[in-house]
Amino acid sequence: MAQNGTTENRGTKGIAALPLPQPVKVQEVRHTKIFIDNEWHTSSSGRTFPTFNPATGHKICDVEEADKEDVDRAVKAAKAAEQRGSPWRRMDASSRGRLLHKLADLMERDRLLLATLETLDTGKPFLQSFFIDLDGSIKTLRYYAGWADKIHGRSLPVDESFMCFTKHEPVGVCGAIIPWNFPLLMFMWKMAPALSCGNTVVIKPAEQTPLTALHVGALIKEAGFPPGVVNILPGFGPTAGAAIASHMDVDKVAFTGSTEVGQLIKEASAKSNLKRVTLELGGKNPCIVFADCDSGCGGDPERSFLQPGVENVKKIVIGDPMDPQTSHGPQISQQHFDKIMDLIESGKEEGARLEYGGAAVGENRLFIQPTIFSGVKDQMRIAKEEIFGPVQCIFSFKRQQEAIERANRSQYGLVSAIFTRSMDRALSVSAALETGTVWINCYNALHAQTPFGGYKMSGNGRELGEYALAEYSEVKAVTIKLSETL
Ligand code: NAI
Ligand code: MG
Repeated sequence: MAQNGTTENRGTKGIAALPLPQPVKVQEVRHTKIFIDNEWHTSSSGRTFPTFNPATGHKICDVEEADKEDVDRAVKAAKAAEQRGSPWRRMDASSRGRLLHKLADLMERDRLLLATLETLDTGKPFLQSFFIDLDGSIKTLRYYAGWADKIHGRSLPVDESFMCFTKHEPVGVCGAIIPWNFPLLMFMWKMAPALSCGNTVVIKPAEQTPLTALHVGALIKEAGFPPGVVNILPGFGPTAGAAIASHMDVDKVAFTGSTEVGQLIKEASAKSNLKRVTLELGGKNPCIVFADCDSGCGGDPERSFLQPGVENVKKIVIGDPMDPQTSHGPQISQQHFDKIMDLIESGKEEGARLEYGGAAVGENRLFIQPTIFSGVKDQMRIAKEEIFGPVQCIFSFKRQQEAIERANRSQYGLVSAIFTRSMDRALSVSAALETGTVWINCYNALHAQTPFGGYKMSGNGRELGEYALAEYSEVKAVTIKLSETL
């Protein structure tokens, strides 16, 4: 996922005309324990860990810390729930769809609370949580609710006197390891197709942002999912996360996060039971703007692109993420703040032109000004490394072929974007870009129907759309000997 969602195409049209949704008051967070078998558990180790509000630095609450022993328990529950003959396996596929719709209904009911918890825990502006994260999460559930009774095999014209048909069966216990940038949305991107196909799930939210996932645990139970179908384990990566990745009874793991951890997960799979792995990792996402988009300043396309860009960035309101006026919140943690500031400093030192921002906002806080560099050269660190923060790097190019070659000269291949008035050019360039997604004259336009995932080191497999169903099903071929061919 990209770090900063825009509101484009995400259900925000016309929000100015409507009364704005308001965050709810959260006196006390209700769900802070480990969710296994539809029950709340304290950790086997007796340990808890704090989760913080990154906008203030204050602790929100302590959460039970799952470790290997808790993962073992959760996997046992998930495995029992997916055995043949279990209530979940015997349930009609259409009833699985109804349960997913029921969960979507409950998330709609609790939408303000979920958006508030997401903003408390991540620091992202409340209206983004409400209109982007919650909208996308609910739509993802409904999309896969519709698929539940439409997942089927084929009959095949095999040679000689045989007939063959295929069936699509669940893979089994599916692990999900979630990052902090879209805690609820990434959970739904993994859980919804997994459940639609009849699997059971063991998920670990990011240690920075466990709260919305835990609230969903309560909704899973209320919706009426059988015990063990969804299990939620707040905890850390090298402990709980690694235990999921290397577990002998986990049949598949879906991960979104850093490339380094993606590599560890594949390694853990290889060294344990060769579980299936889908990965959605980093990106260095080129956005190619052709001169025919120029705003009329004439002469130098880079400057004419830059001036309106800087003017727009000046309008960004930095502040309390609960305030509906705020459009830019804090970074998630000190560690991530330091990583971004280090990259910004490297940009200045390596000679990129700082057009706007480039500094922290306030002292001892995690806010960073939106930052624009121009004159960026391909060998600079800011050109090569994933910044994952509010930093835009502007490069200039002369020829189309040059832009394509430079965009493709990356280990990553998650998304790219093209802005031009010529659809003919946009389509040719889109064919040449080595990325899993190409946006033309738009950005961050994500839909439940559209597959999302990366080429090259940006990952393996696809989430969303019909394509994701293949990641969560096994194909069984049944061949029948016929006595004669008529
Ligand atoms: P991370 O990859 O360490 O964390 C993502 C998830 O993986 C978390 O749930 C974490 O607990 C878990 N994890 C960590 N180590 C693990 C292990 N050994 N085994 C199993 N699970 C493990 O990412 P982090 O540290 O939060 O961010 C580092 C960088 O990763 C960011 O600066 C950004 O560049 C990138 N990132 C990319 C994301 C994306 O959407 N593609 C999301 C988050 C981070
Ligand atoms: Mg990490």
